[in-house]
Amino acid sequence: MNIYIAEYAGYCFGVKRAVDIAINTIKNTENTLIYSLGPLVHNTQVVEKLNEKGLKIIDNINVLKEGKVIIRAHGIPYDLQKEIEDLNLELIDCTCPYVKAIHKRVKKYYNNGYKIIIIGDKLHPEVIGINGWCNNDAIIVNTKEDAETIPKYDKICVVSQTTNNIDIFNDISNIIKNKGNHVKIFNTICNATNLRQTATKELAKKVDAMIVIGGYHSSNTNKLVEISKKYCKNVYHIETSKDLPLQKLSKFNTIGITAGASTPDWIIKEVIDAMNNNKDNNEIMEAIENSIVN
Ligand code: F3S
Repeated sequence: MNIYIAEYAGYCFGVKRAVDIAINTIKNTENTLIYSLGPLVHNTQVVEKLNEKGLKIIDNINVLKEGKVIIRAHGIPYDLQKEIEDLNLELIDCTCPYVKAIHKRVKKYYNNGYKIIIIGDKLHPEVIGINGWCNNDAIIVNTKEDAETIPKYDKICVVSQTTNNIDIFNDISNIIKNKGNHVKIFNTICNATNLRQTATKELAKKVDAMIVIGGYHSSNTNKLVEISKKYCKNVYHIETSKDLPLQKLSKFNTIGITAGASTPDWIIKEVIDAMNNNKDNNEIMEAIENSIVN
């Protein structure tokens, strides 16, 4: 069995930055409570480790009287940021700079009379955050059918959730470009997403089976699963090495591994180690069986 790792896999710049800032904040803080507004990353194992170190997850800032509040890489709406500041809580902003750039762009075009359209999942925290920088007035679409229903506007500004699939973005933008007199389309899909999706696609084409490592609720990981399924018949989405279907995998000659942008290196390494151990065990068993037959 040969194991191949996708050229780009695991932590992206924004998630690594957020986790590093959180760890440093915990290290350098004494006698003050530190909270994360929602799980810092969409990865249960990383969240558990941060929790052990003292980072508490909250859903609502109104329960707080003091402490530091970490804003995750997805970012938050403008009103919520203002609320945190007004409560005199210390805000540690880990919003990914690429997401921050979308907030600024959306705010600028909204103030200049453009109808903002976000291509993405309306329930995803990043999209909710972006919408909060244009007065929660954006139209959010995720399918070509949604895009067809958009009425005509004079001025339209289109942005995308950073983890979107480029083909879906292009298909939907092509429909929206006919919906206004002045249409500005910004492909705000993050390069880290592009690199991971392209690397996954190339690998999935070549192997018998694909393993995608990442949180079951992680949007970018689920996109990698979708892409893998398009090019490979046998795809397994796992969170940790414990979820590996080792018996099923033993029948494949070539296996590809990719990982979502919120999957840390240590989880990827554990998966590779578990597969290598399994491979060694299978080879030993095969050798024993052969020696018995001979
Ligand atoms: Fe930022 Fe891109 Fe990661 S937007 S959080 S570097 S996927």
